[in-house]
Amino acid sequence: MRGWIIPPPREPTKSQADLQQERTAKVMRLIENGLLKSERIKQALLRVRREDFIPRLYRDYAYLEVPLPLPGEHATISCPHSYPLFYEPLGLEEGHRFLEIGLGSGYGTAIARQVVGPRGLVVSVEIDPVTLEFARRNLEEAGYRDVVLVQGDGGLGYPEASPYDSIAVTAACVEIPPPLIEQLHIGGRLIAPVFQGGRQYLTLLEKGAEGIQRQIICEVLYVSLRGVYGS
Ligand SMILES: C[S@@+](CC[C@H](N)C(=O)[O-])C[C@H]1O[C@@H](n2cnc3c(N)ncnc32)[C@H](O)[C@@H]1O
Repeated sequence: MRGWIIPPPREPTKSQADLQQERTAKVMRLIENGLLKSERIKQALLRVRREDFIPRLYRDYAYLEVPLPLPGEHATISCPHSYPLFYEPLGLEEGHRFLEIGLGSGYGTAIARQVVGPRGLVVSVEIDPVTLEFARRNLEEAGYRDVVLVQGDGGLGYPEASPYDSIAVTAACVEIPPPLIEQLHIGGRLIAPVFQGGRQYLTLLEKGAEGIQRQIICEVLYVSLRGVYGS
């Protein structure tokens, strides 16, 4: 898989109406190409304004299929299709206890918050304090205050709120960090980009009473996980 070509920063020119139109068109395309099936994820993608989670000079590119740079070291907001790509196989649902590793912009956190609803829980761990503050402000301004944001090494998870129904790791790891598997419910699912032979494969893991099942979904390209389980 090749690298990304990031468009140059520029003063935003698009209106709210332009961006809303792009958001609706993007959701329709995700449905057409089969990535988006869940009604709750669809409604969340229509509701959360991705442009509110992007640095001003990249805002016009909010609905382009490229990752965009964020404040902090090596942090990016993932491409728009990444969210259904991760959340559909997880089966993210109303009432889930969800853990995200790699808060980034806070956009994935806001989408998850919409999907799990008031009966669910969303915890997100970010290693970079500058990135975390950027996301915290974005989430607060967008009205998502009922999420637990943690600064630290997400490879260690967040045992205080475990067990989780679903865990998404949004940075590529050499192996799925064992603490995350421990913090998953029986019947719970985890999704992560995992290195194999110099490439990255989005890997879905399901924790059953009898053991763990793994399935590779597709090749992907994400920033590397840092910390104890980093590469
Ligand atoms: C692709 S970005 C996340 C995108 C994010 N989910 C979003 O919606 O904007 C990956 C993030 O993982 C963070 N990260 C890398 N290693 C980490 C670790 N060990 N623990 C927590 N966060 C980590 C990076 O700083 C970066 O912000």
